[in-house]
Amino acid sequence: MRTLILSLLLFISMGALSDGRSETFLTKWQFSRDKTSWQEVTVPHDWAIDGPFDKKWDLQSVAIVQNGETQATEKSGRSGALPWIGEGYYKTNIRIDNLPEHAELVFDGAMSEPTVSVNGKEAGYWAYGYNAFRIDVTPYLHAGDNLIEVSLKNVEESSRWYPGGGIYRPVKLVTTSKAHLDAWGTYIRTLQADSNQAILSVDTKTIGGEGKVDIRIYDASGAEVANGNTPFVKNPHLWSPETPYLYTAVIELLQQDVVVDKLTQKFGIRTIAITPERGFMLNGVSRKFKGVCLHHDLGPLGAAVNRAALERQVRILKDMGCDAIRTSHNMPSTMQLEVCDSMGMMVMAESFDMWIYPKCKNGYARFFKEWSDRDMENLVLRSRNHPSIVMWSIGNEIPEQWNEEGREISRRLQDICHRLDPSRPVTQGMDRADGATKTGFMQVMDVPGFNYRVHLYDEYIGQLPQKFILGSETGSTISSRGVYYFPVEVTDHPYHDDGQCSSYDIEYCWWSNLPDDDFMLNDDRDYTIGQFVWTGFDYLGEPTPYDEYWPSRSSYFGICDLAGLPKDRYYLYRAVWNTSEHTIHLLPHWTWPGREGQTTPVYCYTDYPEAELFVNGKSQGRIRKNTSARNVICNPNAEKKDLTALDRYRLRWNDVVYEPGELRVVVFDEQGNRAGEQVIRTAGKPAAMKLESDRKVIKADGNDLAYITVSLTDKNGTEIPTATDQLTFDVSGAGKFRGVCNGDATSLQPFTKPEMKLFSGKLVVTVQASDTKGEIKLTVRDKDHPKLKNSIIINAE
Ligand code: GAL
Repeated sequence: MRTLILSLLLFISMGALSDGRSETFLTKWQFSRDKTSWQEVTVPHDWAIDGPFDKKWDLQSVAIVQNGETQATEKSGRSGALPWIGEGYYKTNIRIDNLPEHAELVFDGAMSEPTVSVNGKEAGYWAYGYNAFRIDVTPYLHAGDNLIEVSLKNVEESSRWYPGGGIYRPVKLVTTSKAHLDAWGTYIRTLQADSNQAILSVDTKTIGGEGKVDIRIYDASGAEVANGNTPFVKNPHLWSPETPYLYTAVIELLQQDVVVDKLTQKFGIRTIAITPERGFMLNGVSRKFKGVCLHHDLGPLGAAVNRAALERQVRILKDMGCDAIRTSHNMPSTMQLEVCDSMGMMVMAESFDMWIYPKCKNGYARFFKEWSDRDMENLVLRSRNHPSIVMWSIGNEIPEQWNEEGREISRRLQDICHRLDPSRPVTQGMDRADGATKTGFMQVMDVPGFNYRVHLYDEYIGQLPQKFILGSETGSTISSRGVYYFPVEVTDHPYHDDGQCSSYDIEYCWWSNLPDDDFMLNDDRDYTIGQFVWTGFDYLGEPTPYDEYWPSRSSYFGICDLAGLPKDRYYLYRAVWNTSEHTIHLLPHWTWPGREGQTTPVYCYTDYPEAELFVNGKSQGRIRKNTSARNVICNPNAEKKDLTALDRYRLRWNDVVYEPGELRVVVFDEQGNRAGEQVIRTAGKPAAMKLESDRKVIKADGNDLAYITVSLTDKNGTEIPTATDQLTFDVSGAGKFRGVCNGDATSLQPFTKPEMKLFSGKLVVTVQASDTKGEIKLTVRDKDHPKLKNSIIINAE
């Protein structure tokens, strides 16, 4: 019966065949870990995210060489402490009444080593779990029911972070006539563009027969604006993060005047260039990247890709002033690129975390020699029409930096990018300036990318023929949202008994640095072209500095936590990066029973140059940013840390004595005029529950999500920043509970059970729309204060 329903769905959607081509996403599958018991799942699917968390999963006893370790120790949460290791099987049935002349399955990624069979015969395999691949299934299909099976295998010690498990990105069946256009052979680029005119180039590739190719370009209103292989567009809308305007190319293949295939491709018109004199230029305008690195997981959703989750990430990042994402350290999903195209976010699309020399025992090094060319090609061919991508990256901290073989591999991979896409520069992240410059590894790249090592920029710039430096990975400051320790100490070896890090943003790793250093280098050095902070959001796995601490299973690097909630650090970046809106943010919170009379430093993150702080009306002094500070703070070679630069981007009152009540900051502009203020107050007892949704109306499409932030307030509406109450969630109506996350890296409460504790007073519930319109009601109850309860309605339309 189940099979019948699946077939029917597919049969109906394939009925929508037009101009020879049909595309059907295969979303309904059956899944099993053992081929014995099967469950119905929706793809994208991550089999491991339900947990349970346990240190036994992928327990690695290793020395993390990149972190300078020489002795192996037990690394419990390194890959997320979730059950992603092992095998998994998926099957679905497609009913086909009229056999197509050509059919292919397009996987956007499956974790990992997917073997695909059609009607019992092996039709294809791909080694790398992060890449898209296509399988020609024409010879295996027959009229009637067709069984598609995918087997996956994840081996232990194959990842430095949580990769997820399963068909975690979309799969589609594409059918065409025998003669058809190759979607990955279509290449649209801007040859020349300014606000008056643009000259484009459209390459196409025809497979299975010849024909005439007709190309038409439409603007966003649907008006035809150009045609032909080198379309000329008058007064083009240029694509940029600020103006993400998209055009559509419609490409038809005609035989005897009959359209046998039709491809529709969105693209943007924009130019990119990098020169020593003017740095990186988008549409002829120099700009420095205000970027973040992101892993692919979506916190409580795991690796299963979801458009609403990606859009939320981009919204949060854009409000911070961020304009670029590095998809570290692997291929982005098509969905992520579509979101970045349409919302305006530049992308550095990365490919590998290792080449021949393994960074973990069973990582991609097993496949590199045989697969790297194909992997590089698939990334570029699948993605090159996305305007958001402004740079390819062929690797991250590749150990081969220090040998000449590595230099030659760099050349080879970079050449593949150039051959398939002459329009974009190529980079990679390097952490060994000395080795990489000695071997010429760094010099052969279009864009030399430094990972950290801010103290070496000035020393190495002279050796680089490119004459500029990209901070391909910066920061790696570590913090836990809403957690503060006293006394406040700048340290590159933080350790606290509760497995958290300070939110004063003064803790980092010995190889990394504080945000202030990166801001300084970008402000003071003309040769820098911007940065990609490690990371925009916390991610599953790599719980440095608690790699050996259990329970700890997700990162502390994020500017936002795993739930997507901004940490204090968010406002430090916002104050510098968001140049269209002001920022005034005070930290820490002001609810410290027991700290009365004790020194409790207060920081303000603001774009304003000056501010005065008041505790219960008493001035703590009016201070100004120290714009003359020049010395890098995090210089491991310095005998004593020079902290003056901490006062260049932050306003700090280090001697404030805590008393409960009101903390008020008044900010002043360059002219000394009062420009605004922020007030925070000591919270009393919990009296109410607050629910805030990121969106009130979502689409009834079965996938859309609303993210509801839950907190407790006292009777005056002041949020309680220390609350840890255990809450339960109930979703009724036209949607379902999808997940919950509180951002606590040490929590072992599962993401997919409707119950969780608040962490630093907050958590975020994710609610998913069904495909029926109506109201979705989330009710939250508090087990610790049973009188506290609240509901919120989201409309699915
Ligand atoms: C870098 C590495 C990242 C992450 C980061 C943590 O060296 O490229 O993947 O491990 O360190 O600081």
